[in-house]
Amino acid sequence: MEQLIGRAARDLVDSKYAIGLTGAGISTESGIPDFRGPSGVWTKNPEAERRAYLGYQEFSEDPKKWWEERLSGRGQSFLGDLEKVIPNPGHHALAELEELGILKCVITQNVDALHEKAGTKNLLEYHGSFSKLRCISCGLRFGRDEFGLEELMRENQLPPRCPKCRGVIKSDTVSFGEPIPSDVAHQSLEEAWKCDVMLICGTSAVVYPFANLPRIARERRTEREKQTETGIYAVERISAVTIIEVNADPTPLTEEGISDYLIQGKTGEILPIIVEEVKKIRK
Ligand code: APR
Ligand code: ZN
Repeated sequence: MEQLIGRAARDLVDSKYAIGLTGAGISTESGIPDFRGPSGVWTKNPEAERRAYLGYQEFSEDPKKWWEERLSGRGQSFLGDLEKVIPNPGHHALAELEELGILKCVITQNVDALHEKAGTKNLLEYHGSFSKLRCISCGLRFGRDEFGLEELMRENQLPPRCPKCRGVIKSDTVSFGEPIPSDVAHQSLEEAWKCDVMLICGTSAVVYPFANLPRIARERRTEREKQTETGIYAVERISAVTIIEVNADPTPLTEEGISDYLIQGKTGEILPIIVEEVKKIRK
């Protein structure tokens, strides 16, 4: 473990464009359950997962009913009260790596807004944020309190409508079956294609299209000269990215060799140590 932590710190210090990818595992130490871990929401409640798969369809069929259920508390959030949770040392470590100029961007699957609360600036919320709303026509986003939702319900004015295009407003969180908002999808692809180090934290890497990002990065090649036995210089094409996983369990990325190495353990414990090592190397 120590050796791998040193290697990760070295890879980050030597990087020109490192990015972070995160999943529910980075927030479990903040008291939010993950989905597919041993005490994950779906692991414990497969029926809830089946219901979640109908989420976007139900919204599309009757957005008024969808909002009424949500506002009357019948639309329960599996993750508990996200207003009350606070970032843990894992979130703070990634924010600090950004401050040190090492992490150029964090792409998260989490809707809990904890990276934002920890101070990460260049953040892409791939599955949206529970604290925001979004117009499903023009993609404009709004704060939750910009619509007086309870009042709209009392006046039977649901669903809320976009002030710009009159499109229907939905929570910004991306439901199963809903397309990833194009702005976030494009920016994330660009980041995955640009990076030379990808630090993947707390995800089982089984949900697509997010799980494609490491595979896209792995595709990128760069050329390196090498001297053959006969002394002639040859150019070889090698992978242009180093992919590091920090996760409690191995994932398909580990098993398929998409990642270069896995540091197995808790993000809230390992990431702060990596930051300390980075600072030592930089001294
Ligand atoms: N430190 C490191 N890894 C952890 C920790 C921790 N403290 N806690 C849990 N893990 C690991 C689990 O072992 C698991 O491999 O994090 C991973 C979390 O995986 P999932 O529960 O599948 O969460 P995630 O990958 O983010 O899910 C992707 O699925 O349900 C949808 O939209 C939802 O964004 C979510 C998406
Ligand atoms: Zn709109």
